[in-house]
Amino acid sequence: MAILDKHAIIEKSPTLLLTFSLLVVSVGGLVEIAPLFWLENTIEEVEGVRPYSPLELTGRDIYVREGCYTCHSQMIRPMRDEVERYGHYSLAAESMYDHPFQWGSKRTGPDLARVGQRYSDAWHVDHLIDPQSVVPESIMPKYSFLMDAKIEPEHIEALLKTHRFVGVPYTDEQIQMASDDFYVQADPEADYDGMLERYPGAAVANFDGQKALTEMDALVAYLQVMGTMVDFSTFTPDASR
Ligand code: HEC
Repeated sequence: MAILDKHAIIEKSPTLLLTFSLLVVSVGGLVEIAPLFWLENTIEEVEGVRPYSPLELTGRDIYVREGCYTCHSQMIRPMRDEVERYGHYSLAAESMYDHPFQWGSKRTGPDLARVGQRYSDAWHVDHLIDPQSVVPESIMPKYSFLMDAKIEPEHIEALLKTHRFVGVPYTDEQIQMASDDFYVQADPEADYDGMLERYPGAAVANFDGQKALTEMDALVAYLQVMGTMVDFSTFTPDASR
């Protein structure tokens, strides 16, 4: 084992030891990192996952602004207790259009990743106005002011474009129709077929029951889409990756 005997030479010389250590670390680093530059996507694409509609995206911004993430996570871990309580564990693809993502690690309240369609719009509105009126022991703050905060799609095109800039595949048509789609989603009497073609499965409703379009409408539209895009009765994980 002549070569192993010579090991002492390297160990006794700080310069040699440093040089060889750096060499080993660089090779290891290259092998791990370099392939990522040739992979087009590290997220498994899943059918049904689509960019947020203009109203949902606006609601999501309100969710972030109000700091809902300080008490609520949006990631169901693949552990039995979580899956039994919240539903199918979260897939990476389900938050691929979230900028910034809302996984979180703090759960003062329950995880919300699959809260969509679990409650009625009216339940959400009552709960957000006064959580204790529906869940007496709740410590969630009241958000009744959202009912009075009127919204207009002033910056909606810019918002969609910004998301496209960071990789969300909004089409030119979606950006062009953003303002229309924004109103139509909250108006069951409007012609919303085009909006539904652009955003399949989006909930159309007068979410807060008021005539005016408010931040409450947008936030509830967002809550109702959470975790509903993937049809888990037909989903099978792609084991080839
Ligand atoms: C101070 C912590 C806190 C903040 C901030 C907070 N919540 Fe909650 N949330 C809770 C707690 C605790 C519960 C469980 C009791 C209840 O249902 O009210 C809850 C429950 C909920 C539920 C019902 C979930 C379920 O599965 O039953 C929804 C929906 C919800 N919160 C949405 C929001 C939204 C939207 C915001 C931001 C506008 C928000 N929360 C901000 C603490 C918080």
